Amino acid sequence: MTQGYLRGRRIALCVGGGIAAYKACDLTRELQRAGATVRIAMTPAAQQFVTALTLQSLSHHPVFTDPFDPNQDSNFGHLHLPRWADAFIIAPATADLIARIRAGMGNDAVTTALLAWKGPVLLAPAMNTAMWENPVTRDNVNALLADPRFRIVGPDSGPLADGDVGAGRLADLPKIVAAAEALATAGPLTGKRVLITAGPTREHLDPVRFISNPSSGKMGLALADAARARGAAVTVVLGPTAEKVPDGLDVVRVTSADEMYAAVMQRLGAAEVFLACAAVSDFKPETRAEQKVKKDAAPDSVKLVRTPDILAEASAKLAGRALVIGFAAESENVIANARKKLEAKQLDFIVANDTRAFEADSNAVTVLARDGRSVELKGDKRDLASQIWETVAPR
Ligand code: C5P
Repeated sequence: MTQGYLRGRRIALCVGGGIAAYKACDLTRELQRAGATVRIAMTPAAQQFVTALTLQSLSHHPVFTDPFDPNQDSNFGHLHLPRWADAFIIAPATADLIARIRAGMGNDAVTTALLAWKGPVLLAPAMNTAMWENPVTRDNVNALLADPRFRIVGPDSGPLADGDVGAGRLADLPKIVAAAEALATAGPLTGKRVLITAGPTREHLDPVRFISNPSSGKMGLALADAARARGAAVTVVLGPTAEKVPDGLDVVRVTSADEMYAAVMQRLGAAEVFLACAAVSDFKPETRAEQKVKKDAAPDSVKLVRTPDILAEASAKLAGRALVIGFAAESENVIANARKKLEAKQLDFIVANDTRAFEADSNAVTVLARDGRSVELKGDKRDLASQIWETVAPR
């Protein structure tokens, strides 16, 4: 049974050099199916059994194989992987690889990346029974498991590739995926009530005509899903969008800025984090016709009035008792304008991006903090959502 921990999670899969390395291909797929993004590092021995190209194709990311390749190391190398990942899985963990990890060596792509990693590690050993039962291997495994960061799954008993029967088979893939799910560690969002606005609003002139914008709601939904994956109870007040809503969210659908305002204000009391990602229409027609306006009755001009600033008002109400994050979509002077908004609306953080990102699947943003610090992030919107929470949630 998957618990959903892997949804939106970033898994560094480290492949050791044993015959079970071929199963890393299917494991990659299973982890992806559970919702994880998988990046792979391989030992030189692993590459004797399965090629980096195979795993690159399956993971959709370059594979880290050589810390001495300047191109790899500067782009996705031994420090990038630990900075990127939520968890490491070593599969198959061979006797040799376990020994080198235990000794703190850094003589290949896998061990150098692991040396810089401080989070959870799941070992999935696979080797011949005699190697598994060797007292040196036992000692190495026990020493690693004495550190609570390390967990183990398998090895299973049964027929081995070399004809022996005994302990040493790589655990069945669903068991590895389940063990990866169980790596969930409590983080700053665990158990928190998070309220998010997402999507556009529609300000109707009549039943069929409205003012709106091309916001897809993708970014807000990705943020909602990533918060949920981190253990938060998430409510999304969502404007009109055809985007698929991820499971496990409490969704309140609204159409206009006024409706969004009312829905947010009603739910503000319980919120510990408020994130305004919606592209709220700043103006609405002063009046709305009950019936469709006939062509020949069309007015020469339409009087517009301001809609309520949901974020500004929520921020004033939440001051000091919740984390408040806004978005700023700008078509020029992105950073300067965003900083102004952060100050005007008294936010903890503002995520600045270009209006061209509205409908795209990926985005590049700058997260500005109240204390003047800033960080640039980019990636597809799911990836970016995780990065944004990791930037703002520790506060
Ligand atoms: O001032 P501006 O509309 O550019 O600020 C953008 C931020 O304010 C976004 O976080 C948006 O969700 C929020 N906002 C709001 N209500 C409005 C206008 C914007 O919550 N009426």
